[in-house]
Amino acid sequence: MQYSVKISEQIHWLGVNDRRKELFENIWPLPNGVSYNSYLITDSKTALLDTLEVGSDSSYVDRIEALLDGRPLDYLIVNHMELDHAGEIETILRRWPEVKIVGNQKTFRVLTAYYGDATCNNSLEVKDGDTLSLGNHELKFVFTPWVHWPETMMTYETTEQILFSADAFGTFGTLDGGVFDDQLCFDFYESEMRRYYSNIVGKYSNMVQKAFAKLAGVPIRTICSLHGPIWRANAEKVIALYDKWSKYEADDAVVVIYASMYGNTARMADYIANGVAQNGVRNIRVYDVSKTHISYLINEIWRCRGVMLGSCAYNGEMFPLMESLCRELIHMGVKNRVLGLFGSYSWNGGGVRNLKSFAETIGWEQVCEPSEMHGRPNADKYSECDALAQAMAAAILKK
Ligand code: FEO
Repeated sequence: MQYSVKISEQIHWLGVNDRRKELFENIWPLPNGVSYNSYLITDSKTALLDTLEVGSDSSYVDRIEALLDGRPLDYLIVNHMELDHAGEIETILRRWPEVKIVGNQKTFRVLTAYYGDATCNNSLEVKDGDTLSLGNHELKFVFTPWVHWPETMMTYETTEQILFSADAFGTFGTLDGGVFDDQLCFDFYESEMRRYYSNIVGKYSNMVQKAFAKLAGVPIRTICSLHGPIWRANAEKVIALYDKWSKYEADDAVVVIYASMYGNTARMADYIANGVAQNGVRNIRVYDVSKTHISYLINEIWRCRGVMLGSCAYNGEMFPLMESLCRELIHMGVKNRVLGLFGSYSWNGGGVRNLKSFAETIGWEQVCEPSEMHGRPNADKYSECDALAQAMAAAILKK
């Protein structure tokens, strides 16, 4: 049987590490796995907060039973119905058929769609701001729609000032060794938290800001997310990061992403990146869109204020993987970036032409005209690249 971890005398972590799944939501790579976190409060009344992905832990019921020590499970609080957390609700209902399911109106709409109307036979529908006393602990329900689904809510435990935050502040990456942030390497989880945020939640950044407005002034000592570490040493820090990312604020850094079949646009990318560095920018990363998964590119675009995209022509269009990245950026509605465009072609173009259409659609400020080359880059063709690099550096460095 797996262990549980005490967060405090009556509050327990019951998560699990998933190192088998290759792709989260069958799209986002998990080279370092992911954790699903579930929590149990064993007060006068007992409450389980969210479950796990179905089948991720065959000992889940045993672990809960060990903590309950013969007592009934009184409540199952469903903060989020996405199936990486709601996957074991049927298992819980089979073992504890008398448990009262706590959720909001939208929770039950999704819950019954998955598990049938009978799941609402013993339910407690809460309204925004409602409270529930378990004895020593009082829970307050805070509706935070679209962080990440419309039914998503957070549960604030008022006595110990613990925020059960659903997906918010969650990270990719398993919990290797520790469960609390002070037992783990913060830098690794910061990057994986931003990748989780940008890939999963970022589209709803305005709703994250609305959630922050609701929680303004609420003292938060510990954050228990549904993925990744429990934030007890860095709660303030991760709240500040989420605030920054959801306002589309970024570092004074430049990411250069290119699509190249035979190396010409790649050479332009390196030349331009070098020019940006020569003009004073120190935080630059260059990626080949064919080599690096879009998940990491989106993460970098969320980190960097300067974005430079280059594409060769491909059947009169831009390169398909660059097109896919651009479509995803429009879908996510990323804002407040400065943009530089470049590319090359052999026949009649299409890469840069379509990148310009992308620029118009997403509405980012272009630092200067795109640089486009016909054929192989060589010394007498680089003047536009020089201008582009200089303009990008100036845009990043200006205060
Ligand atoms: Fe971790 Fe929106 O599920």
